[in-house]
Amino acid sequence: MSYKKGEFLYEGKAKTIYSVLSDENFVWLEFKNSLTAFNAQKKGEFEGKGKINLEITNHIFKYLQSNDIKTHWVQEMSESEVVCQKLSIIPLEVVVRNITAGSLAKKFNLKEGVQLKKPLVEFFYKKDELGDPFISDEQALVLGFVESQKTLDDLKSRALKINELLIQFFDKCEISLVDFKLEFGFDLKNNILLADEITPDSCRLWNKKTGEKMDKDRFRQDLGLVKESYEEILLKIQQNWSL
Ligand code: TMP
Ligand code: ASP
Repeated sequence: MSYKKGEFLYEGKAKTIYSVLSDENFVWLEFKNSLTAFNAQKKGEFEGKGKINLEITNHIFKYLQSNDIKTHWVQEMSESEVVCQKLSIIPLEVVVRNITAGSLAKKFNLKEGVQLKKPLVEFFYKKDELGDPFISDEQALVLGFVESQKTLDDLKSRALKINELLIQFFDKCEISLVDFKLEFGFDLKNNILLADEITPDSCRLWNKKTGEKMDKDRFRQDLGLVKESYEEILLKIQQNWSL
């Protein structure tokens, strides 16, 4: 298929979204070099970040697709651009955690790095102005952000299945999957598809041997070597998984 980039639609923190000329079913995403944290209170960028994150997502989404997980990913158009199916995005960020870290550790004053007795799925309401607050199933239902408990249960089971697959994926790269965030949306036929990206921006990834943080926490916590860590993740993926 040949797609043509259409008009500018929306500028996100890490991606810019365009329409696809004369095709309403698709969107054109451009992965940017920018990096933000704490709801964009902290801003940075590095050369090549868009390319690295696109390539990491490309590998992971193709791996998930080969394991029967439906995603919005359609076709790479350049090193930092991809055409995806246009979805009606569900306004929930679905977070899965295997090991204590981040907001969970902070909220309950837990030591970082403790394996949870089973994976924990949490929903956050996707609203930058509010800082993406935690949202309960009841709140999501009563406030009408999702239609039914069935949809919430469906999101949880998809997220847990993706977690199992991603643990195996990163295990081969000698990386621990601490936690990550997913987004989903409905296509025109009302099927739920995995959307957005899976990158070191949206996951916590620790080197299995050294325990070193390799993801966006390096930027959030001023640990340095941000670009080098993202490059190392991509290299490990390329060495262990062929497309
Ligand atoms: P948290 O511990 O800050 O709640 O984050 C959980 C996971 O979700 C972590 O892997 C980072 C990812 N995440 C995002 O992708 N976007 C966000 O806006 C936030 C807050 C977290
Ligand atoms: N995704 C949010 C931001 O880009 C929060 C974070 O990742 O810390 O600002």
